[in-house]
Amino acid sequence: MMKKFKYYKSKDKLPSLDDVIDCSENNKHAVDKFTIDINKEIPNIGLKDLSDWNIYSLKDCPGLIIIKNPFTSLGQRYYIKKLLKDYTKNHPNNLLESRFKENVIKDFWTSWTEEVDQQQKNLIKKSMRWTTLGYHYDWTNKVYNEENKDEFPEELSRLVSVFAEVLNFNNFISEAAIINFYHIGSTLSAHTDHSEICHAPLFSISFGQSAVFLMGGSFKDADAVPILLNSGDVVIMSGRSRLNYHAVPRIFESESQTWNENDDTKNCSVLNPDDLKECISKESWKQFEKYLMDSRINVNVRQYKNKI
Ligand code: OGA
Ligand code: MN
Repeated sequence: MMKKFKYYKSKDKLPSLDDVIDCSENNKHAVDKFTIDINKEIPNIGLKDLSDWNIYSLKDCPGLIIIKNPFTSLGQRYYIKKLLKDYTKNHPNNLLESRFKENVIKDFWTSWTEEVDQQQKNLIKKSMRWTTLGYHYDWTNKVYNEENKDEFPEELSRLVSVFAEVLNFNNFISEAAIINFYHIGSTLSAHTDHSEICHAPLFSISFGQSAVFLMGGSFKDADAVPILLNSGDVVIMSGRSRLNYHAVPRIFESESQTWNENDDTKNCSVLNPDDLKECISKESWKQFEKYLMDSRINVNVRQYKNKI
């Protein structure tokens, strides 16, 4: 894992992406097609028809499932807007440093978009690394706490429930989420997500620029599999992969911007019309586009407690 992390992270020597598994390409040696019941009914929340979903499991990593971008183009924009603007508001984040004013911490998006000083603007953008939702993760003590939680955002919970149901992980409850903000050059070092009492599957959704995701084993030294993640891709860590080491050594410019392909409102009828308008209007979308130019957003959703 550490050797591969260094290799893909390297700045002086650009790594070759030849060994990175791209499920949508011809990687039959590495992945199996995961079949689902395409006749299930799913709500119109910005997702493609089930018959158009491509789902894979990794041969070398039992329990790891990847749904290749199940979002419509407008659906991607909808959740990107939610994550960047709505869910960063009034939630704990890493900007709690004296160099930032209270208003920046409480409303990242407004502060970033309205800042006129270019240097300060850049600093706000680059400094925002994470926001937590629901049960807020305590990074120092590596625990969740009954006293420190907010209501989990309904639309994000509904989205993850649909993924869970399609994959037959019944009764998954979204209780905690971490939104990670990356820029070209940022990394996430090898770790396990073990603070949840319950080891229900973990749902990880990514938008914006692409990443190399490293999936390792139960020891840090175990070998790791490099996987390409593009905008809209959903990674599910379930079963034996749930507690495995993983990392993000590299973010790079994606080949296509699937979130910008069209304004087709197909399968979006249940989404909030005002929020949709903001994603369709060229003028209001401009600022999101500017953010995404060199950034990647990942939302990592977990169930914390065992069900009674
Ligand atoms: C995490 C995580 C992976 C990613 O937040 O715990 O592993 O793809 N994120 O950003
Ligand atoms: Mn993780």
